[in-house]
Amino acid sequence: MSPTSRLLRAVSCIALVWSASGQNITSLAPKKYLSIPLGGIRPTGWLLDQLMVQTNGLAGHEHEFYDYVSQTDWTGGNSYYSSLEEAGSYWFNAMVPNGILANNSAINAKTQNFLSYVLSRQDSTGWLGPEVGTTKPRYLWGRYPFMFGAIQMTEFNSSLTNEVVTALYKFVSLANTMLKSNNTGVEDWTATRWEDFVITLQWLYDNHPNGTASQALLVDTMERLKWTGVPWEKVFAKQYFPTAAVENTPNPFNLDLTWHGVNMAEGLKALPATYRFTHNQSDLDTASQGWDLLFQYHGRPSGIYAADEYLAGLQAARGTELCLVVETMFSGSYLYQIIGDPKFPDRVERIAYNALPATLTGDMWNRQYLQEQNQIYAGNMSKNPFPLDGPYSNVFGLEPNYPCCTVNHPQGWPKFITNAFVTTPDMLSLVHLYLGPFSTSVTLAQGNAVTANVDTLYPFSDTVTTTITAQAAFTYYVRIPSWVVGGTIAINNAAPKAVAPVNGLQAVTVGAGTTTFVLQLPAPITTESRPEGAIAVHRGPLNYAFDIPRKQKVLETNAQQPLAQDLEFDATSNWEYAIDPSTLKFSASPPSSGILPSPIFDSGLTPLKITVTACLINWAIAGPTFAAPPPTNPACTGPATTITLTPYGATKLRISEFPVFNSTA
Ligand SMILES: *[C@@H]1O[C@H](CO)[C@@H](O)[C@H](O)[C@H]1NC(C)=O
Ligand SMILES: *[C@@H]1O[C@H](CO)[C@@H](O)[C@H](O)[C@H]1NC(C)=O
Ligand SMILES: *[C@@H]1O[C@H](CO)[C@@H](O)[C@H](O)[C@H]1NC(C)=O
Ligand SMILES: *[C@@H]1O[C@H](CO)[C@@H](O)[C@H](O)[C@H]1NC(C)=O
Ligand SMILES: *[C@@H]1O[C@H](CO)[C@@H](O)[C@H](O)[C@H]1NC(C)=O
Ligand SMILES: *[C@@H]1O[C@H](CO)[C@@H](O)[C@H](O)[C@H]1NC(C)=O
Ligand SMILES: *[C@@H]1O[C@H](CO)[C@@H](O)[C@H](O)[C@H]1NC(C)=O
Repeated sequence: MSPTSRLLRAVSCIALVWSASGQNITSLAPKKYLSIPLGGIRPTGWLLDQLMVQTNGLAGHEHEFYDYVSQTDWTGGNSYYSSLEEAGSYWFNAMVPNGILANNSAINAKTQNFLSYVLSRQDSTGWLGPEVGTTKPRYLWGRYPFMFGAIQMTEFNSSLTNEVVTALYKFVSLANTMLKSNNTGVEDWTATRWEDFVITLQWLYDNHPNGTASQALLVDTMERLKWTGVPWEKVFAKQYFPTAAVENTPNPFNLDLTWHGVNMAEGLKALPATYRFTHNQSDLDTASQGWDLLFQYHGRPSGIYAADEYLAGLQAARGTELCLVVETMFSGSYLYQIIGDPKFPDRVERIAYNALPATLTGDMWNRQYLQEQNQIYAGNMSKNPFPLDGPYSNVFGLEPNYPCCTVNHPQGWPKFITNAFVTTPDMLSLVHLYLGPFSTSVTLAQGNAVTANVDTLYPFSDTVTTTITAQAAFTYYVRIPSWVVGGTIAINNAAPKAVAPVNGLQAVTVGAGTTTFVLQLPAPITTESRPEGAIAVHRGPLNYAFDIPRKQKVLETNAQQPLAQDLEFDATSNWEYAIDPSTLKFSASPPSSGILPSPIFDSGLTPLKITVTACLINWAIAGPTFAAPPPTNPACTGPATTITLTPYGATKLRISEFPVFNSTA
């Protein structure tokens, strides 16, 4: 099915339908915005380079050597992380879009092979995956990321539609029977992550409906998953929401996993998905409020929240797991498609440009399990600040602490790219959400073939130039981030006018033919209050940090792949600075070639900086390897000096929550 008919089909399903049994089932509520099938949005410029860095790094090579995903028969032994129980499924979900957007034939062949392997081994009951014919218990969750990968592949390559849709329906029938039979297949992780299956069921309902009996089965399965799974409407409700790190707080839901960082990141999709079949406004309100609570009580200046296994509060040395970074980005994209509040893309963009790159090395061969907002060391800690994670968690390596983020992190950039544009549900308009360099091609309603090429160094520049070609006139929308002050738009070389976004979106009237417009999106420096009277510094989408000079030690090298190493980073200079916020000064030095260095997210490479007057203070360490909370009202122990802050995403050791002092007092 073409992208256009797929999308039109999605909006036509709004009538009440009855199941074959005469049971009245309510149809799904429409989405506010529709996603564009994989391949319609491509990265260009520095963002294409970033995707190629990922493809040339650990993500694009792990299938060649990394145990959990390099087997040719995909059985992965009996390990929990094997194939469709976790590792293969996560890897597939990420590498389908990575391989296609990078045009990487080796990766595409491997994902194609994985799909064929799984589908060809579907057993007569409908169970999917290499684990058929074994005595292993059948748990549903491990299949959910696989289904996301299969959906993306099918959207790109419509010749797979029959095979994939038939297999999914067969699996749904089995799953429905299992759920009816005392919730067979639902262990704690499945009970928590039910929303990912609901989203696949909704994809079938929207795009491949097969009569009222099938629709009734899909909705019944959604309801069973929801009403027997974790009650996210309570977990995200204010009355139960934990306002501090949870390690000493009894969990009121008798399932500690509800406060698990990655489960919450995935669970952010649960209430918007639920709304589609309950039509209960309360589900949307709680989803939106839960998002705010998460960041209010556990948020980080890098855009993400902290959970070093479980919710970790506001202290700057506590950890944020890489898996929850990429899952929150994906969930934020979905939340926008259902709720339409611009706070979701604002935050997804901040996470993508700060928290995500910060937790991998510049060349993306080494990743952490946990990042810290103030991180003065990355190595095997003798004492560590993470109550439920190990001392190796902040090492930059192949699989520090747990293997999951090795296979799951590669979804971050590709899904940021594929969600950067959406269409309105009437398919009359294209909406540009995440600012950055892209090339998008889509057929809107009435066969209006449209391309949008976005040329920009954003977030490393305030200028975004978009060239649109269209067969017929239409209204294009572009998101103006909430932090922009004094933004302008100049259309077809006319004089710039102040932007006037409505609900975060600037409307641009586009005629048939070619239209070019230039956005200038300046932003003031802002400071954010953090615990102990400390501050964090922002400008636009970027958080700024003191990049602690570091030396590197190789802790371990993989026997099959020498580029896959575990690295320790040690500080080689003082980092114990207080800053005077009245002296913050921003400057940009755009590359004369117009091209950013590759890779971009490492020390000294980005063209932006903020200088500030600082002084050394007494700032204790809490263990030998992590910083105590910033001291409040510290006295200078040395003269005032000027230090440079750089984008957080380019730092691997850093201070980003600073004590303050007054340099003129
Ligand atoms: C169908 O069910 C919905 C929700 O339970 C109810 O509001 C509606 O009145 C029912 N419609 C009919 C025609 O029975
Ligand atoms: C991949 O192919 C598409 C479509 O032909 C093209 O637009 C894009 O630039 C290519 N990307 C790379 C990384 O070669
Ligand atoms: C689409 O899928 C078919 C069937 O598996 C395969 O033969 C073909 O190579 C795929 N096309 C692309 C462009 O990936
Ligand atoms: C669609 O429904 C028909 C009739 O109910 C059934 O025979 C067919 O197998 C269904 N197709 C899929 C893909 O499940
Ligand atoms: C569900 O469990 C109960 C109690 O163990 C048992 O009596 C019942 O037969 C089970 N039902 C099914 C459908 O397996
Ligand atoms: C809507 O959800 C709220 C919170 O879960 C619940 O209390 C209320 O009963 C629901 N309303 C309907 C009509 O189902
Ligand atoms: C980290 O250090 C601890 C001792 O503090 C040691 O037991 C452990 O093996 C080390 N981990 C690695 C992966 O080197």
